[in-house]
Amino acid sequence: MIGILDSGIGGVTVLREIFKQGINAKFIYYSDSKHNPYGDKSSDEVYSIVKTIVDYLLDKGCVAIVIACNTASAICVKRLREEYPDTLFIAIEPAYKMVHDYNPNGKTLVMATEGTINSEKFLTLFNKYDNKNTTLLPCKGLAELIEEGNEVKIDRYLDDNLSKYKDIDNVVLGCTHYPLIKKNIRKVLGNVKFFDGSLGVSKELVRQLELRGITFDNKSFSVEFIDTSSNVSKENRFMELMSSSYE
Ligand code: DGL
Repeated sequence: MIGILDSGIGGVTVLREIFKQGINAKFIYYSDSKHNPYGDKSSDEVYSIVKTIVDYLLDKGCVAIVIACNTASAICVKRLREEYPDTLFIAIEPAYKMVHDYNPNGKTLVMATEGTINSEKFLTLFNKYDNKNTTLLPCKGLAELIEEGNEVKIDRYLDDNLSKYKDIDNVVLGCTHYPLIKKNIRKVLGNVKFFDGSLGVSKELVRQLELRGITFDNKSFSVEFIDTSSNVSKENRFMELMSSSYE
């Protein structure tokens, strides 16, 4: 069994890529929407929340944990690897290196939570690949709106916050919720190139499982969904997003 966690349903964008890799495992998806957003919380608070989830997933028998949240990865993964040396953690980060690899001269906008943008992990990555043509934009409140699923509010937010970046070529979607609103972002910024870390994470998961010789008896991919809020519609929305296109 493999655990996957996020502060809500955003990690569906990661699980979809994992599904495409053909791993026949049972997944437990832990949607912690009760604590959304992680991005505005202190590092200690996020760590304590994520540690509780990790303990839960390990108790359930998970052999690997995918942190499908840029904020939680940026804040927690180093400490988690120290505290749980025998556990395989796969972490996501804003795909800024992909800009360096695929369109390094393009004017670039990195959208992420405040927690991610201010983290040492992200700033180290940014300083390494800085193309000197990049704006870092903390998108306070955006993950909450996506979690809520209110298109009108999302469009208004993007209009208010992105309109001044009309000449952007590359957009790094540094939060796992953001690939769900590519269409909305295009309405403001036009046909930009999007970069996100989900493909990299899914390939890293396959690589690490192979490296450790971890295999599964399941005949197919399956997902158990858990959400920490009392909102009963989360699971339906999540399952719909697993199979519908949001490109
Ligand atoms: N999906 C999370 C991320 O990738 C959402 C952030 C939040 O809860 O603020 O950062």
